[in-house]
Amino acid sequence: MAQRKIDFRNGLAGVALMMGLFVSALPVAAQTADQAWLRSSAPHGKAALPLQVRALGNGALEQSAARELRLGMARLGGAPSPIVVGTREEMLKAFPSLAIPDDLETDAYLLGWARSHGRAITAVVGGDERGILYGAFALLRLSATGEDFTRHNLNTNSLRSHPALPIRWVDEWDNADGSIERGYAGRSIFFEGGKVREDLGPVAEYARLLASVGINGCNVNNVNNAAPFLTPAMLRGLARVASAMRPWGVRLALSVDIASPQKIGGLTTFDPLDPAVKAWWTAKANEIYALIPDFAGFTVKADSEGQLGPASFGRTPADAANLLAAALQPYGGVVLYRAFVYNHHLDWRDPKADRARAAYDIFHPLDGKFAPNVIVQTKEGPIDFQAREPVSPLFGGLAQTGQAMEIQVTQEYTGQQRHLVYLAPMWKQVLDFDLRADSKSTPVKEILAGTEFHRPLGGMVAVAGVGRDAWLGSPLAMANLYAFGRLAWNPNLDPAEIAAEWTRQTIGADPEVVRTVVKMLMQSWPAYENYTGPLGMQTLTDITGSHYGPNIESSENNGWGQWHRADREGVGMDRSVATGTGYAGQYPPEVAKGYETAAATPDELLLFFHHVPYAYRLRSGKTVIQHIYDSHYQGAQQAAQLVEEWASLKGRIDAPLYEQMRARLEYQAGHAIVWRNAIVEYFFKLSGIPDEQGRAGHHPGRLEAEDARLTGYKIVEVTPWEDASGGKAVSCALASESAAQRGCAAEWTYSGQAGRFNIAVQYFDLQPGAARFALKVNGTAAATWSAEAVLPSSRPNGDNSTRHTVQGIDLKPGDVLRVEGVPDQADPAALDYIEVMAAGSAQ
Ligand code: GCU
Repeated sequence: MAQRKIDFRNGLAGVALMMGLFVSALPVAAQTADQAWLRSSAPHGKAALPLQVRALGNGALEQSAARELRLGMARLGGAPSPIVVGTREEMLKAFPSLAIPDDLETDAYLLGWARSHGRAITAVVGGDERGILYGAFALLRLSATGEDFTRHNLNTNSLRSHPALPIRWVDEWDNADGSIERGYAGRSIFFEGGKVREDLGPVAEYARLLASVGINGCNVNNVNNAAPFLTPAMLRGLARVASAMRPWGVRLALSVDIASPQKIGGLTTFDPLDPAVKAWWTAKANEIYALIPDFAGFTVKADSEGQLGPASFGRTPADAANLLAAALQPYGGVVLYRAFVYNHHLDWRDPKADRARAAYDIFHPLDGKFAPNVIVQTKEGPIDFQAREPVSPLFGGLAQTGQAMEIQVTQEYTGQQRHLVYLAPMWKQVLDFDLRADSKSTPVKEILAGTEFHRPLGGMVAVAGVGRDAWLGSPLAMANLYAFGRLAWNPNLDPAEIAAEWTRQTIGADPEVVRTVVKMLMQSWPAYENYTGPLGMQTLTDITGSHYGPNIESSENNGWGQWHRADREGVGMDRSVATGTGYAGQYPPEVAKGYETAAATPDELLLFFHHVPYAYRLRSGKTVIQHIYDSHYQGAQQAAQLVEEWASLKGRIDAPLYEQMRARLEYQAGHAIVWRNAIVEYFFKLSGIPDEQGRAGHHPGRLEAEDARLTGYKIVEVTPWEDASGGKAVSCALASESAAQRGCAAEWTYSGQAGRFNIAVQYFDLQPGAARFALKVNGTAAATWSAEAVLPSSRPNGDNSTRHTVQGIDLKPGDVLRVEGVPDQADPAALDYIEVMAAGSAQ
């Protein structure tokens, strides 16, 4: 093959962009909260107003509030009247005539304007210092979102708000070495090289961001491998972290390993009932509080996924939780004991085995046995943050226990921030879900808030996974962090309104921008569910590995228990009481009835609760198999639609933001096609039932790499087979070394109709390395690009299958289409197929 020179200049802009997208841990300038939603500025042309902000007290939080108001209001063009901030007591001392209720709660605020000595002032009154801070941020949010504040007279029509839940925490699963478990935005802002980082600037900025939406706690370390965090040296570093967050009212919490007394304490046991173990934890709590007087508490993962726990000694989670609770109690600390406890060595051949049952089976019998400062923290669904799950029945099964709901901002199973998936609508469904405990109205949000069951300590905790790459990597993913804070403050808020609020503050107040972004956010979860795992099948991703791309059988034939039980006849897991695992019976009777039979179960959860034949008719009237086909085509279409909607904002929004999201959304639309094809082909092959619309198994315009005239490229099998068209790809890795250096090529002769087309090139983007590609028509380069993205897996599969579409190419029969790939390091320029599509089509 002749030596070729590929001109990559055209591709450079795209390459730089892709690097910004997926290369994490690039050195970034200062990481600030302004990169998120604290950036609102005055609508163009707004006249600057004078700005006076006065704090009545000297406390750190109150000073933060005043500083924040000065900064924010200046950006917004000033304030119509001087702003005064203070606690209720301070305010009454300074302005005795003000009508301030005497029952302002902890963390609550009151806002309004009032007249003092003939002058108007805007008052921000806090139930405590934290309340002042939340009030200040609320005032900024209202001003930024265009609220007419003048109607809020403090004496007659004040704006009063308090959080529904006392515990509003983020969990960061950061490791001491600086990596982050299930984090998708670079390295830790807290740790590096086994120690707390020197530069805690980003930590303070993160706390500021958290405070702006009312979050009051941050657990900074991974629940797995937590023991090293309790060593004296680490605790001293953690005291610095606590200090960095303190001015923002965010208290430090830590994940602890229940085996610590043995692992780092020199004891021979960690039995929760052993007096020496008890003494060890008491001494440890004393040590912590001496360094961090406002330490919030411990989070515990035990007897789960390899973490040791009380079961080692025949003790219960209540024994372990109460041991820790006793050590923290004198200081007001709390224990968040995670209900994510299950056996990951289940027998998959046992039709009664069911991971979904575990939390309720283990924790419900312990109800009433937990100390008052223990809160059981339960994931929203019974499995693990899948694209759709039913609400965890445990919320209804702990009437005498404080409860917190755990959700994920980091998108472990929902596209890892490379896909736009706004999760607030999912969380809202869970919060509103009425469990009908004791046949009464018991929505999850009221259980958490303590209005049902009357437990004073409840909360919402989000696994956030922020890192040094602009917090969450993707700008639009930040809407999830924002929405979490807002819902934890007020679970009655509407996700679409939260999205609008966030958009106005982050992207712009132009009504067209707000309308479009809100629409995109609101359609993103349904789209993702459609092109991944609909009907409650779970995400259908690689569950023993990346949790990212499609890998349908990875759920089966292993002990992890994320089974969907797809076979030749049907699909779904029978969790009924009558014939299945009995999981449906863990719900209070009125809800259980709605899941017990296939006919009663809502379509979107059918396959979570029942194994049905592919020809089973859904309530929608479609068969299950046709729904699988249709939803995947619809989902990929919706993902393509996101690209178009975003494109309509070109020129209306910040240009770098526009470009960054455009590249991400185009990638997502391509990956949605990978998902669609994998799942449609898999179920088509398994069921043998044709698609009524003839799409499954038919790919007009597709030219397989393995059918091409190959130079250097060798054919490889892809695992799992559904991740590549025809189960095969071509790879340049097997070419001789010198050939690989020059590159490989696949060539086809076009035999379709003449016309203008888009050509998609489907390739595998592996790490490390950046293979280079060129698409040539009759020897002339139509496009060149580099495979620069950082995607999971080191083998070609659905994690890294990537689509590059070249628009507007004129073709006639006999034209020669050629893809050239030059490997780089471990990236073998592997190629799946090209697809010639009518111009204007994204599919
Ligand atoms: C999932 C996730 C793990 C995590 C665990 C947990 O299983 O994949 O990385 O540790 O949840 O929440 O504890």
